[in-house]
Amino acid sequence: MQEKLDNLRERIIAAIAAAASVADLDAVETEQLGRKGELAVLLKSLGGLDPEVRKEMGMRANAVKGEITLALAARRRELQADAFAGLAKAERIDVTLPGQRPPEGHLHLTSQAIRDITEIFARLGFYRVRHPEVEWDWYAFEALNMPGDHPARDEWETFFMDAPSHGEKGRMVLTPHTSSGQVREMERREPPIRMVNISKCYRRQMDVSHTPVFHQFEGLLIDRDVNVTHLRGVLDFFARSYFGPERKTRLRPYHFRFTEPSFEVDISCGLCGGTGRLGDGGKCRLCKEGWLELGGAGMVHPNVLRFGGLDPEEWGGFAFGWGVERTMMMRSGIMLGDIRELYRNDLRFLRQF
Ligand code: DAH
Repeated sequence: MQEKLDNLRERIIAAIAAAASVADLDAVETEQLGRKGELAVLLKSLGGLDPEVRKEMGMRANAVKGEITLALAARRRELQADAFAGLAKAERIDVTLPGQRPPEGHLHLTSQAIRDITEIFARLGFYRVRHPEVEWDWYAFEALNMPGDHPARDEWETFFMDAPSHGEKGRMVLTPHTSSGQVREMERREPPIRMVNISKCYRRQMDVSHTPVFHQFEGLLIDRDVNVTHLRGVLDFFARSYFGPERKTRLRPYHFRFTEPSFEVDISCGLCGGTGRLGDGGKCRLCKEGWLELGGAGMVHPNVLRFGGLDPEEWGGFAFGWGVERTMMMRSGIMLGDIRELYRNDLRFLRQF
């Protein structure tokens, strides 16, 4: 019996030492110390011995059980420590490795241009405003000195809303230009006024150089004793800040109903430096004669001031309205074969800017 016990003890201790993982050890424990384990069987068999021997053997067997329990606990601690050490190695994080950059977007190039334009005019004290894009005929045309039947309206190929008209404000339109913000601004605040209204405009036209939705920025300054030289100063400041210090502007007489006098604003060409000729003596392919057309401008017409509730004897001002896309393309020198490319949302195109 003693020999059997010694034998069993040795085997179990060896099995415990051989266990390579906590799971192995658990298996050894259930197998050997469980109710059906060899030790339990041995203890049960003591029942048949005579009392003296039984007592003696019982004590020894329990001592062996105690020893095994301690050995199990010790080996379990070892195995757990090993497992943690392995984990620390396997999952070690090297915080000095360069990080992985998440994909980064950027503003659309039209939004970038709007931001730049806003910032340049802010330096001259022009504050940015947004007037409605769904507008009354009144602000888009009538109050800009273009009565209902005036042929000048044809230049703005207007979308009319399918909505009831509103007394003298007339029909509802999608604003075809940002000039509709002029009289709205005069109604909204007392002069002096220095606003730049930047918003979407809508016209019924779509081809390689037009999109039905595009953007304009409209400057309006109303004050006392304003004259054309102030307008020129502001336009020159903008041209130099936005296009570069060597660029000049030129005013060409033109006609708009809401300004008098009215001008088309040209900027000296960045490619040929305003000469119209390239180094090799050939004609400049960008501008042909040294100047590029930017947009309209002029001194606010007295009728428009009156519609805005201002006395033209007391107040005067100038206004200018240009296309954002056109202005931006002139600066960047991108010559898009098709301007609609800007709004096709093709990332291969947009990512380049
Ligand atoms: N609103 C005009 C257009 O869309 C541009 C324009 C011309 C705006 C002369 C002005 C201006 O403020 O003075 O074509």
